Amino acid sequence: MIDLNVLARVPLFGGLSSEELELVAAKAVRREHDRGAVIFFEHEPGDAMYIIEEGQVRIYRVAEDGREKTLALLSEGDFFGEMALIDDEPRSAIAEATEPCVLLAIHKRDVHSLIQANPSIALSMIQGLSRRLRETNKQLMDAVFLDVRGRVLRLLLDLDRRYGRPCAEGRLIDIRLTHQELANMVGTSRESVTRVLTELQDVGALGYAQRHRMWIDRRSLEEYMEQVGA
Ligand code: CMP
Repeated sequence: MIDLNVLARVPLFGGLSSEELELVAAKAVRREHDRGAVIFFEHEPGDAMYIIEEGQVRIYRVAEDGREKTLALLSEGDFFGEMALIDDEPRSAIAEATEPCVLLAIHKRDVHSLIQANPSIALSMIQGLSRRLRETNKQLMDAVFLDVRGRVLRLLLDLDRRYGRPCAEGRLIDIRLTHQELANMVGTSRESVTRVLTELQDVGALGYAQRHRMWIDRRSLEEYMEQVGA
């Protein structure tokens, strides 16, 4: 049985009463995935949407030459896989567990009946989609108007806003991040990302912590941005 306290903390279900949460709990199925497991592939038909109870999921697409573009990194409380259920099109991207994950899966027919019975779920879903569109617009502007250094710097500040917490050196960005992963997010090569991160390390604006984490010192980072005109 799914813990109602877990469901109550999911923003998508924020407006539901405890009776309504019980209905959701009765429909949801808990699934566990190891790190690296693909939850679904692009172009597959979609029969369920997912809520992340624990862990981290990367949403990405692969270009014809094999390069990957990360569209989003999702974490606890986020949902994904709703688009194919709403527009009846195939999956628009790949979803992969980048940390061991506990997911709650809700079948398509149950998603439809929950939305019809609870306008607050529909509203939360639209809010989630709007947030994503804003984020995508921002990424589009950065891709068109910023160079690689500017994009990496902007991304680090964004990741700090989302995942940062205070630590001895400044702010720990508390998600697993490799240079390749940052490159997939900003749409460049791993080597270019490494070059920018080395510059940042040299001015004391960035360093590495355990478990593939990075820390940043916001003030040094912002000073550096001003210096290089980013
Ligand atoms: P669906 O198309 O069913 O499968 C892939 C999922 O990835 C999609 O639903 C969304 O939940 C999610 N997704 C697709 N594009 C983005 C994006 N730009 N930002 C965040 N999530 C996305």
